Amino acid sequence: MFQLTYQSKIAPELTIDQIENILIDARKRNNARNITGCLVYFEESIVQILEGEKNDVMDLFGKIEKDNRHHTLDLLWQGTSNQRYFPNWDMALYAPVDASHYYDSKEVFVTNMTLLADLSKKTTATLLSFWSTVRKKLNE
Ligand SMILES: Cc1cc2nc3c(=O)[nH]c(=O)nc-3n(C[C@H](O)[C@H](O)[C@H](O)COP(=O)(O)O)c2cc1C
Repeated sequence: MFQLTYQSKIAPELTIDQIENILIDARKRNNARNITGCLVYFEESIVQILEGEKNDVMDLFGKIEKDNRHHTLDLLWQGTSNQRYFPNWDMALYAPVDASHYYDSKEVFVTNMTLLADLSKKTTATLLSFWSTVRKKLNE
């Protein structure tokens, strides 16, 4: 098993609905290739972790790198892992709901996400890098 994590910035005009749309297609492709992972979207920042067979992960990352719906992409860490940490997720999405609808959604998101980041396993350098970057974004 292989894991890779990166961070990037999404165009500010992209809405959460558009991100969800990207993920509808992404999940179908991930499912077909046995890729799992998690994407955190907060204040224009993306932190994503991909896991699967090394060739599949590298192929996908090659596409993601060239995708012009985000920019300033920065590969944080990659390496082998002896198990999947998101086995049930073709690609989990964590993002605050639209603040115009839910008055304190951002605050709730930061609290819940901080808790999740603290409780999550960090048994590989890639996982550690993913969660510590998420933690950093929440505090920025
Ligand atoms: C932030 C972000 C995350 C993405 N995550 C995935 C993903 O997990 N799986 C996937 O297949 N495509 C993902 N994509 C879309 C890919 O960049 C690419 O458009 C897609 O794999 C289709 O590529 P193709 O048309 O060359 O096959 C993501 C795009 C962005 C902007």
